[in-house]
Amino acid sequence: MINGKKVLFSGMQATGNLTLGNYAGALKNWVALSDEYECYYGVVDMHSITIRQDPATLRQRARNLMILYIAAGLDPEKACIYYQSHVSAHAELAWILNCYTYMGELSRMTQFKDKSAKHADNINAGLFTYPVLMAADILLYQADVVPVGADQMQHLELTRDVAQRFNNIYGDVFTIPEAYIGKSGARIMSLQDPTKKMSKSDENPNASIYLLDDPDTIMRKCKRAVTDSDSQVLYSEDKPGIHNLIDIYCAMTGKQPAEVEREFDGRGYGEFKMAVGEAVVAQLKPLQERYAQLQKDKAYIDGVIKNNAERASRTAMKTLRKVQRKVGFPDRIR
Ligand code: TRP
Repeated sequence: MINGKKVLFSGMQATGNLTLGNYAGALKNWVALSDEYECYYGVVDMHSITIRQDPATLRQRARNLMILYIAAGLDPEKACIYYQSHVSAHAELAWILNCYTYMGELSRMTQFKDKSAKHADNINAGLFTYPVLMAADILLYQADVVPVGADQMQHLELTRDVAQRFNNIYGDVFTIPEAYIGKSGARIMSLQDPTKKMSKSDENPNASIYLLDDPDTIMRKCKRAVTDSDSQVLYSEDKPGIHNLIDIYCAMTGKQPAEVEREFDGRGYGEFKMAVGEAVVAQLKPLQERYAQLQKDKAYIDGVIKNNAERASRTAMKTLRKVQRKVGFPDRIR
């Protein structure tokens, strides 16, 4: 509990440009949750270097992501949005937790197996201990809840196991975090292969709508979205393309699928795709305008970065100091 509220932690990597999937599935919810919870949202740049990055690009994208957090509606006076690399406690706690995590546990992580297959020339130790750094992120803030997608669930389970193991040895040090299950975000699929999740790392740019795509691009991508050869707008598992477009339309407008079926009864795919495109454009317009505004306000963004790194450090340090005492590191002389 901080300020009488439960604590929530989540983070996003600044690799690739954010898609409508990241927005509808995560960011939009983060904004909604930031009244009810004491929120910490990291730009987790330390996780990003487990895959080789171009330094200038990483730096630029990390800053753009920070600005997008604000443009999407997060109030940096409330939600603590910060760069993971600015809070050294993350690395320090990760080291300690490494000593309480088994090789066997980490070997079972499916993301590690997937990423090592994909980057066979760079299977580094950081890629292997990636989930331990993630555990440190969450445990430093004593988070009660963590909104994560299905792909990160295994890492959250590991976090809980390690925290429990530590608590069993040293007493109640860590809050055991739970996955946030509530009104979960929409799961948006690729526009080119609706059986696959929309992903910022997709090679085909037509598969994803990026948050900063201009209106023409958004309309074009929606028109070209892969659908079946039928023409009826029906919310059916047998029609994954249309199913996905209905999900997108609902996420943008707040409507229910049944309502959408009625609205487009007898009107065909062409007209529906136009409506989806227009709904996405309308939803992203204010975000894009704020983003452009914020990009010009260097002093404001710098201030947010500095203040929130300090805020995050203060909370994180409390946990880190406690952990250091528990494991037997000598007290600091003051
Ligand atoms: N690994 C997460 C992802 O790629 C990002 C992340 C890092 C995270 N630390 C976290 C998510 C802590 C939730 C909590 O999506």
